[in-house]
Order: sequence, then structure tokens, then C-alpha cells
Amino acid sequence: MSKSLLIRNGRIVNADNECRADILVEDGKIIRVAGNLEKPFPETLVIDASGQILLPGGIDPHVHMDLPVGGGLVSADDFQSGSAAAIAGGTTSIIDFVTPQHGQSLIEALGRRKKEAQYSLCDYGLHMSITSWTPKTATEIEQCIRDEGIPSFKVYMAYKDAIGLDDRDLLSVMDVVGRCKGRVTVHCEFGEIVSYMQRRFISEGKTRPCYHPLSRPPEVESETVARSILMARMTQCPLYIVHVSAAGSVEVIAAARARGQDVLAETCPHYLLLDDSEYRRPDFQGAAYVMSPPLRPAAHKQLLWDALENDTLQTVATDHCPFNMKSGKDRGIDDFTKIPNGVAGVQSRMMLLYTYGVLENKISLKRWVELVSTAPAKIFGLYPRKGIIAEGADADIVLWPDMQERNVSVIQGRGVSATEKTISVKNLIGKCDTSIYEGFPIKGKPHTVIVGGTVRFSEGKIAEPETTGTYLRRNLT
Ligand code: URP
Ligand code: ZN
Repeated sequence: MSKSLLIRNGRIVNADNECRADILVEDGKIIRVAGNLEKPFPETLVIDASGQILLPGGIDPHVHMDLPVGGGLVSADDFQSGSAAAIAGGTTSIIDFVTPQHGQSLIEALGRRKKEAQYSLCDYGLHMSITSWTPKTATEIEQCIRDEGIPSFKVYMAYKDAIGLDDRDLLSVMDVVGRCKGRVTVHCEFGEIVSYMQRRFISEGKTRPCYHPLSRPPEVESETVARSILMARMTQCPLYIVHVSAAGSVEVIAAARARGQDVLAETCPHYLLLDDSEYRRPDFQGAAYVMSPPLRPAAHKQLLWDALENDTLQTVATDHCPFNMKSGKDRGIDDFTKIPNGVAGVQSRMMLLYTYGVLENKISLKRWVELVSTAPAKIFGLYPRKGIIAEGADADIVLWPDMQERNVSVIQGRGVSATEKTISVKNLIGKCDTSIYEGFPIKGKPHTVIVGGTVRFSEGKIAEPETTGTYLRRNLT
């Protein structure tokens, strides 16, 4: 007998439509979306979703589980803990990265990464990072797209001494990926300037975390956004700019899109909700906020929200890459350049965007669904298998308390206490000992999370913690 699930009475919200209907799931797929569906088998599990929004499972297209950063240090979440955190936050698919060593075969590095990723509790895909250009790279890029289900390739303009590429190699990558109808994703920061500023600050005895944002100011990002867009235009390569943090970058992206260039871009919750004053916290506390690009002066935040609303930016990802303060960030206690870059976010993404975006009328409910699920699915070759509640799609479904319907007064400031919780590292599932969102009030979070037709989160707990997800082969054509 097939595993079957009937979800009744929910308000289904997709990126481009919404309706009240029941959802019938069999063997991990949505097979019917219609009113008043009958329970097909006595053993069908029936879930009453009254008062809940039903949305397609979130897709976080930018996470770094189990990322080695040198000297034996690895990001705090492995695939198991990071994916558990993802599910608890309503994200049912993640896309992480393969990061080959200099000169290493892409396919060999992919094989190793898949062994680490197989412990993911939710479905997972991988982007391929190109960290060096060798005589085999072009052929291996083609192989990734044709045989491995990897059509997206990450390049770093930062980190020049480690995984960054120079412009010549970047052009080679874009040339091949563009011809093969893939997409290049790019981390935009002017690596040489960052290294110069870091050396200069350290030589002047300026070692505290507050020098991190000063060593990589907004123009250092925006200049490389403009340069990568120009290179992508010349090579006719589709582009996706990761973790946009600066207003100047938004302007450059908007101009390219207005000219008709295929440029897409993401931002992250931390750039929407925090600012660079965090680096001036006493003692070494600012280290918790060290990620690249860094947090910006507060004025940038509203421009990022506007860019999400007007589609200059298409996705909100997390760049989830947490490091513990103890035996992690504290490596940089005497030298901010040694603080490992990255923060946690995969569990908080959807609740933050719902609370501070939807409930504060910065984005609509449908736009929220689009930003966290549908657009990543479309951009990275998972749609319509994922990113939509529709017949034939994977049954990745989030039941989310409908705060707008239940309690309009949330926005008016009444009745908030009954619904409001705060984020605390004590309640987060991941392994990191710090959260940059500590104390943030939250007015909505997942009630139940279904991955591939199975309830994997309910009553505040991960269910079936031994069940692992599926490797997602992706295709852009
Ligand atoms: O600070 C960050 N972003 N850490 C993760 C690695 C990267 O740069 O994407
Ligand atoms: Zn990243």
C-alpha cells in the first residue's frame, strides 16, 4: 500500500496564486489539489490545516555545511545538523557547494562531497565551485551539467590567496558555462583591495572585529558586481550574484536588468535586518557578526527591501556557515583577519522574512513564497518538481500559522504577546554556540513540515531523524 496523506482545510499559497483546497499526497508526490477530497484509504494520515497557510517547502540555495576553512577548522553544522535546522525552519531543500582544492578534478571533489552530503535529512543539491582553471576544467564543467545534474558554478572574486579566481580565469569559466547553458554564481568582493586593507590595518595595530567591515567597504562589493556583470555580458553567460549587501550593488544590478541582461541576485536576512554597528560591540562580541561581505551601515537595509519588492533581487538565501565563538571565531582574538567568516541562518530565514517582511508589509505573502521557495527552484533547475504546491510536484509542504488571518492585530500591535517568540541559540537546532538573531522577536514559524510526503517536523521536534534526503539532479534547460 502506498504511503498516503490528506491535508484538509488549508489556505494554499503559491508564488502566483492562492486557494482553499485539500491536498492528497501519495508516495511523496502531490497527486490531487481540490476541494473536499475523500480519504482514499483507511490508513491515510489526515492532517487538519485549519488556520494554517500551506506553502511549498523552502529552498535555501546558499548554505555551507561541513565547510573546511583551513587549520583543521570546519563550519559548525554538518549536513545532518544543518539540514535538521533547515527543516525546523520550513526549508525542505538546500543547495550547498563542492569546493575542489586547487587543481583537483571537479568530478573527484564531487564524489567526496556527495559522501558528506548523504547525511542530509532534507533533499540537497550541490553547486560546483571553480577554484582554479586547468586544462581539464572546461570538459569537467560540461560533464557536471550533462551527467551530474549540476548546472550552476560558483566563483569567488574574494579570497584571492585561497579559492578566488583572477579575471582571466573567471572569463574562461563564464565562456564555457554560458555556452553550455549553465549559470555562474559569483561572490563579489575585490579580493586584492581586501587583502591590502587587511594588511594595512594589522600593520597599524588595528586588530579588532570593527576593522572587518572597514577592510571590505560597500564599493569593494559594488565594483566587482559591475565587473562580473560586464564579464558575463561579454561572454553571454547567465549570472547570479550571491549575498548582495550594498545599495550600490543593487543599483548596478537594476541597470543591467533594465538593459535586458540575464542577471539575477540574492540577499540574506542578515543584510536586511542588521547593520555594521554590531561590530562595535564590546570585548570580542563583534566577531559573531563576521561574515563576508560584512554588515553595512543601516541605510542600506531599506534599499535591499525595496529591491526584493521590485524584483531587482530574486531570492533570500542564508549563506549558512556558522562558526562557534569558542574554538572558532576566537582564532581571531588578536587579528580580525583570522576570524572565520560566516554565520548561522538556515533555521531562521523564513520566520525572519515572514515577521519582518510580510507582517510589516514590506513584501506580500506570495512574494515571500517566491523569494524563499519558487524563485530558487526556478533559477536552479528544480521547478516545477519543487517550489510549488501543484499536482505532480514533490510533497514538500509547510504548514505555517496564518497570523494575518488569525490575528490582524499583530500588525496593529495588539495581541502580539500571545504569538510572539524570540530567537535564541538555546532553542535553535544547529550546533553553533551563538546566533546573530539572539533576542529577535518572531511572530510566525512552522507548525508542521512535510518533506517528500512524510511529516519531518511537528510539535517542535524533528521526526524520523534517521531518514535522509535525496540528491537533487538539476537541469536548467
Ligand atoms: O562569510 C561568509 N560568506 N562565509 C561563507 C563563505 C563565503 O564567503 O561564501
Ligand atoms: Zn557563501
